[in-house]
Amino acid sequence: MSRLNRTDRPYDIVLFGATGFVGTLTAEYLAAHAPAGLRWAIAGRSREKLERLRERLPGGSEAGLLRADVSDPGSLRALAEQARVVATTVGPYVEYGEELVAACADTGTDYVDLTGEPEFVDLVYVRHDARARETGARLVHACGFDSVPHDLGAYFTVRQLPEGVPLTVDGFVTADAAFSGGTFASALNQFARHRRLRAAARDRRHHEPRLMDRRVSAPLGAPRYVPEVGAWALPLPTIDGQIVRRSATSLDRYGPDFRYRHYAAVRRLPVAVGGVAAVGALVTAAQFPPLRRRLSDRLRPGDGPGPEKRARSWFTVRFVGEGGGRRVYTEVAGGDPGYGETAKMLAEGALCLALDDLPPTAGQVTTAVAMGDALIGRLRAAGIRFRVAATR
Ligand SMILES: NC(=O)c1ccc[n+]([C@@H]2O[C@H](COP(=O)([O-])OP(=O)(O)OC[C@H]3O[C@@H](n4cnc5c(N)ncnc54)[C@H](OP(=O)(O)O)[C@@H]3O)[C@@H](O)[C@H]2O)c1
Repeated sequence: MSRLNRTDRPYDIVLFGATGFVGTLTAEYLAAHAPAGLRWAIAGRSREKLERLRERLPGGSEAGLLRADVSDPGSLRALAEQARVVATTVGPYVEYGEELVAACADTGTDYVDLTGEPEFVDLVYVRHDARARETGARLVHACGFDSVPHDLGAYFTVRQLPEGVPLTVDGFVTADAAFSGGTFASALNQFARHRRLRAAARDRRHHEPRLMDRRVSAPLGAPRYVPEVGAWALPLPTIDGQIVRRSATSLDRYGPDFRYRHYAAVRRLPVAVGGVAAVGALVTAAQFPPLRRRLSDRLRPGDGPGPEKRARSWFTVRFVGEGGGRRVYTEVAGGDPGYGETAKMLAEGALCLALDDLPPTAGQVTTAVAMGDALIGRLRAAGIRFRVAATR
C-alpha cells in the first residue's frame, strides 16, 4: 500500500484522547493553527465530552467527531482507517496504547504519540515495526517534551559539526514546570515495571539488526560540575538518550562514532541532592501497590497545571557538541514544557507528517529521522528557539 492511496481517507489528522489534559490543549492548538482546508477530527471514548470540547474550540465545528475506546479494537481499527495520521494522548501507553499502533501499522496510517515509556517503544518495535514497513506507516513516538527538544536539538547540534568524523554531544536540561495527573500516572506505572522494562529492552536487542560499520552509544554519564553550563549535571535516565541513539543509528550524518549523554542541569548542589532523593523516594514508593494508589490519588487523570502556572513555566536544553577539532554550543528553549509546548510539538508533528515533503521512511522512526529539518522549521515558526550560542 503506498502512502498516496491514503489521500482518499476522510481525515488528514485524527486526534485520539482529545478530551484529556494534553489532548484538549492539542485540539485547541490545531483549531487555532491548522491551515484552512485541513480535514481533522477529535476522537475519544465519550461522545458527550467530545461534543462539549468541540463547542469550545475556535472554529471547532469544522472538526469531525469519532468515538473510539481502547477496550474495543474494532473502534480503533475504524479510527485508523479513516485517518492519514493518528495523534494519540491516551496513556499510560503500555496499558492503553498497543491496539491503536497495531491498527495503524496494519492500515498504513501514520501514527504519532507522547509516550516517554521505553517498554512501550520496545514492544512496539518487536511486534509492529515489520508490518508498518510493509504498509508504509510511520510510527513516531515521544513527540512531546519527551523527546523532541533533545532529539531535534542533538540533530541540530550534529549539523553544526564536521561530517565524517567521530562526534560527541552532551545535552543539559533545565525546566521550571508542574505535572499533570496523566504524566504522574504514567511515571508511577513505569517505576513499578522496571523488570518488564528490562525484558522488553532485551527482546528488542535480539530483534534489532546490529550496526556493522559505525558506532553509536548513549551511556549514562557521571554526575559532575560543568563550568560551560554553570551547573551541576546529573545523569538523566529518561527515554531521551535512547531516542537520540536511535536517530544516530539511522542517520549517517551523526558520523562513524557518535556518543550522546543526557543530563539534568541544576545550579545549586543542595537542590541537585534533594532532587535525586525525591525521585529515589518516589521510585521506592511505586514498588508498593497501596503506596502507589495513595500517590496517584493526589493527582487525578485529567488534572494538570492551570493557565497561570503554565504561562510561568519554561525549559532550556543546552548542548555541547564536539568533533573534528570544532566545539559548538547550541540551545533549544521554549515555554511550558509538559503541556503548552508538548501540545504544540504533537500538533506540529502530526501536521508535518500529514502535509510536508519528508524523506521516505516507514516503520518505527524517531522525530529526527522522520521529520528532522521540516519539524525544526515548524517549531521555530511556532516560537520554540533553536540557536547556535557559540562555536570554537
Ligand atoms: N512526552 C511528553 O513530554 C508528555 C507530556 C505530557 C503528557 N505526556 C503523556 O501523555 C499522556 C496523557 O497525559 P494527560 O495529562 O493528557 O492525561 P489525561 O488527562 O489523563 O488524559 C488521558 C486521555 O486518555 C483517555 N482515555 C483513558 N482511557 C481511555 C479508554 N479506555 N478509551 C479511550 N480513551 C481513554 C482519556 O479520556 P477521557 O477524557 O474520556 O477520560 C483522556 O482523553 C500520558 O501518558 C502522559 O504521560 C507526555
